[in-house]
Amino acid sequence: MIRILAALAGLVFAGVALLAFVMGAYNFATEDAVHSPEHEFHLEAHGPEGGFQFEGPLGTWDIAQLQRGYKVYKEVCSACHSLRYVAFRDLAELGYSEAQVKAEAATWMVPGIDPNTGEAIMVPGIPTDYFPSPYPNKVAAAAANNNAIPPDLSLMTKARHHGTDYVYSLLTGYTDPATFEKDGKRLLEEFPDFSTPPGLHFNPYFANLNLAMTPPLGVEGQVTFDDGTTATVPQMSKDVAAFLTWTAEPKLIERKQTGWPVILFLLFATVLAYFAKRQIWADVKPKKKD
Ligand code: HEC
Repeated sequence: MIRILAALAGLVFAGVALLAFVMGAYNFATEDAVHSPEHEFHLEAHGPEGGFQFEGPLGTWDIAQLQRGYKVYKEVCSACHSLRYVAFRDLAELGYSEAQVKAEAATWMVPGIDPNTGEAIMVPGIPTDYFPSPYPNKVAAAAANNNAIPPDLSLMTKARHHGTDYVYSLLTGYTDPATFEKDGKRLLEEFPDFSTPPGLHFNPYFANLNLAMTPPLGVEGQVTFDDGTTATVPQMSKDVAAFLTWTAEPKLIERKQTGWPVILFLLFATVLAYFAKRQIWADVKPKKKD
């Protein structure tokens, strides 16, 4: 009885798997090839030349870069984007002393209350406060940005494919749709109807090629870096992309570094297991063939 049930269950399972496969193959074979500007002219994100210091199994943060990236966020991006999962005290990880963090927090205005009247007012931040949103609410955010709400940037590099490279590509990727080509094909020759609606901006790295963000980094020297690094657009983009990688995964480096002892331990355990096996089986003679 049990055998029959088991065989039946197996048959049903195999039948469903086969059906799913046939249906999938049918859909794949009959689907029209998509022919749209978003499909054919979207560019894959790529990182800056030389990549980032935190990449690879032995990567480390470039603290000076994170500090520069923070400055770009503060002076440019924070006008529209919040960073609501990051607290001022977290900046201590970027090499700032306690006093510096305190002073830095106080340069930001955060929502608070008037101690005398209880009215909602803005007050200087303290280290335990989180980065404030530039808009009081979503309606105000949308109204100021052509109906698009600038997303929170804390986890942005995790929310997009190849997030760090994506932020870098997006910031450096604004271009003129009239002359844009990919693989030798001109966008406007392939799709003469393609247009960028008023209030939107053409950027081939954005999924639908037109986005509501005005190019935020446009001129060299828009931010003055304290360490003397020349603030070219690619440099600022790279630094802010690194900073946003840190905000999304502050423990990235620790996570990589924990991997090494674990691998060493596993190797050691494997060697031990090998010797233990030899010891246990030492007395058992292989059977001789007659
Ligand atoms: C003037 C306001 C403004 C400034 C300044 C600004 N942004 Fe934006 N940003 C927007 C808006 C609006 C959107 C939403 C765009 C859309 O969905 O079409 C956006 C979207 C984004 C996105 C998400 C794109 C996606 O895939 O959904 C990223 C990443 C981003 N901004 C990064 C930055 C960085 C980094 C800076 C600072 C260098 C910055 N922005 C400065 C308004 C701004």
